[in-house]
Amino acid sequence: MSVTILGIESSCDDTSAAVIRDQFLLSNVISSQDVHKQYGGVVPELASRAHQANIVPVVDTALRNAGVTISEIDAIAYTRGPGLLGSLLVGSSFAKGAALALGVPLISVNHLQGHVLSHFIKDDPTAVHPSFPFLCLLVSGGHTQIMLVRSPMEMDIVGQTIDDAAGEAFDKCAKVLGLPYPGGPVIDKLATDGNPEFIKFAKPNIPDLDFSFSGLKTSFLYTLRDRLNAEQNFINEHLPDICASLQQTIIEILLSKVEQAVRKYRIKEIAIAGGVAANSGLRNALQLLGHKKGWKVYLPRKQFTTDNAAMIAIVGYYSYLAGKTSPLDEPPLARLPLG
Ligand code: KG4
Ligand code: ZN
Repeated sequence: MSVTILGIESSCDDTSAAVIRDQFLLSNVISSQDVHKQYGGVVPELASRAHQANIVPVVDTALRNAGVTISEIDAIAYTRGPGLLGSLLVGSSFAKGAALALGVPLISVNHLQGHVLSHFIKDDPTAVHPSFPFLCLLVSGGHTQIMLVRSPMEMDIVGQTIDDAAGEAFDKCAKVLGLPYPGGPVIDKLATDGNPEFIKFAKPNIPDLDFSFSGLKTSFLYTLRDRLNAEQNFINEHLPDICASLQQTIIEILLSKVEQAVRKYRIKEIAIAGGVAANSGLRNALQLLGHKKGWKVYLPRKQFTTDNAAMIAIVGYYSYLAGKTSPLDEPPLARLPLG
């Protein structure tokens, strides 16, 4: 018997709906909100208003692109958290209303579990996924953590940032450079023509598998201030080199903890997920390191790295198989622990 899931994601500034039949992706529609660009970051109130305007057309397009009628949907999966509460409310209210109207089960999904399970979306028959147990470096605008993943429904955070997320470090440093939001992809592009050894920024010394990026942000700010005092055009003249050096430092911080996690858990199946997993420097460096160390490395397709509803639908699929559905009166939560 095949299972068809409608997934809905609205945790931050992307409104997305996707349809998955079994593990196969039938559609994945993402409407990004450009309104935030002029403010250099996501404005929560504007995000929830844009979700309200987008949600109906996005779901409608996802169903049409999938060639599926609403009566063929077996369950509706939605992001319950973590995220911006006003944004989560739009997706969760829509999902609850639709589940009630259609008389199908509702499945609440943790956004972070969605990023991890994005590796299990099949959008092409040759797609391979990690074997259990595996370690997943989850790096996004709001989170930086290492997960020990035992099965689709069992995963533990074994290390995480104590302050900023890796994506936040990219975005905040990009802001200092006067680059548009979100800065991560812009830095990635500029870094390809730069020298990663141009500047050495401070790296944190944090115990165990935890991360910290606030010191790097400060080091970045002060280094640039000093160089600008000495050379007025420093940023303009060395932009690719500055971006490459920053990106290299972030990659080194991330991968040193992955190496430590591999040693601790003796697991050599390694995946990355989340928006920063789109970073070409990180992808290349992890591939190289994996090759050197004899790890099996899994890089998600770029369209499944940043926020999308396909990853919510795939969690919905596994939850449905496990008989895990959710009550209609469960509220969305800005902070939602895994499990
Ligand atoms: O997973 P995501 O879409 O949203 C959150 O759940 O946070 O991640 C967004 C983050 C932003 O910080 C963005 O700058 C970063 O992912 N990002 C990148 C790249 N593409 C997106 N960072 C570095 N390089 C990229 N290519
Ligand atoms: Zn995310």
